[in-house]
Amino acid sequence: MAINRREWIQQSLLASAAMLVAGTTGAYGCASGISERRVEGSPLLLNWNENPYGPAPSALTAVGEAMKNANRYPDEYIAKLKEKLSKFYSVKPDNLLITAGSTEVLSLLGQHVGLQKGEILTAYPTFPTMIMFGERAGARIKKVDLDSENRFDFNRLKNAITDKTSLVFVCNPNNPTGTEVPTEELKSFCRSVPENVLICVDEAYIEYSNAGLKGSMVSLVNELPNLIICRTFSKTYGLAGLRIGFAISNEANIAAIRSRHLGFELSAGWAPLVAAATTVDDQDFIQMCVKKNNEGKQIVYDAYEKWGVEYNRSSTNFIYTRHDRFDKNVVAKMKERGILITKWPDMYNHIRISVGKPGEMQTFVEVIEEFLV
Ligand SMILES: Cc1ncc(COP(=O)(O)O)c(C=O)c1O
Repeated sequence: MAINRREWIQQSLLASAAMLVAGTTGAYGCASGISERRVEGSPLLLNWNENPYGPAPSALTAVGEAMKNANRYPDEYIAKLKEKLSKFYSVKPDNLLITAGSTEVLSLLGQHVGLQKGEILTAYPTFPTMIMFGERAGARIKKVDLDSENRFDFNRLKNAITDKTSLVFVCNPNNPTGTEVPTEELKSFCRSVPENVLICVDEAYIEYSNAGLKGSMVSLVNELPNLIICRTFSKTYGLAGLRIGFAISNEANIAAIRSRHLGFELSAGWAPLVAAATTVDDQDFIQMCVKKNNEGKQIVYDAYEKWGVEYNRSSTNFIYTRHDRFDKNVVAKMKERGILITKWPDMYNHIRISVGKPGEMQTFVEVIEEFLV
């Protein structure tokens, strides 16, 4: 499916209106774009995969300085951030689009397919934003199962591609299962997808994965005309509340998505732009976050092993956990105890636990032990 420039703005306005009428559901919490109310007091937030160590101290200082420029539009700084990212990822600035979080890219692509009455193919469960926006704008959604280890199954996906498929969505590592796929398998899958089918690879958690940045598909963006990568500064970079992310693709796709972006690529202001650029230069901070995240995960793994709870070893900052060893109302009961964890409606047998600081995970383990059955 080509990205059709002409019809986009008119259609996207229609779609936005339709979405306002349709509304959103709070079922996925943050993923829906609607905040479920956080509980009173200071709950332990193990529900939205936020980084408990961020923002980086260097970013905080830089943002204070940047606010002096807040009377000016930040377009020059967008160019600066692109320059920095292009060096860091060995791509051209024109391969990048800066957005207010990767949610913007996912929703734009979902709408794009929906408005053309196309079909989004993915493996499920996965991060639902694109599916939700696509569906509301008229897309058909085709889901295949994950494999027996809760990973994206490329054989199933390949077999499910037909002449009706417009876009394949791959989340690596995957949310909510926390699993990653071998880099070479994902690369050869991307190469096997017909050029008229878009591929979106969401790499929100890539820095936490075993492969790390080497697991990214970024090296393919100028080889494959149909590949779009979504990245975010909300996770390892610790900037979820500033709303900043980016897309990486070939120049033509970036230009096409940019022309449909309702904010004309001006949705990230000074504070997020400067915080993101400063943190790109502060890779010690990123490494510290990944290391501490591993310590937090280990505390939970040790407890689960002791109790015989099944779980997926996580390539992210959350742990996909079998529900059956816990009280069926464990999410509500943990909430009463001031700890927020996640269960999406279609995560039938699992709960998802975001990884906080080691002390917080110790508290989590002590409290959830009370709800073992
Ligand atoms: C896989 C995945 N993609 C994208 C996002 C959205 O992130 P952002 O804060 O950049 O909109 C999330 C947020 O949880 C996520 O888990």
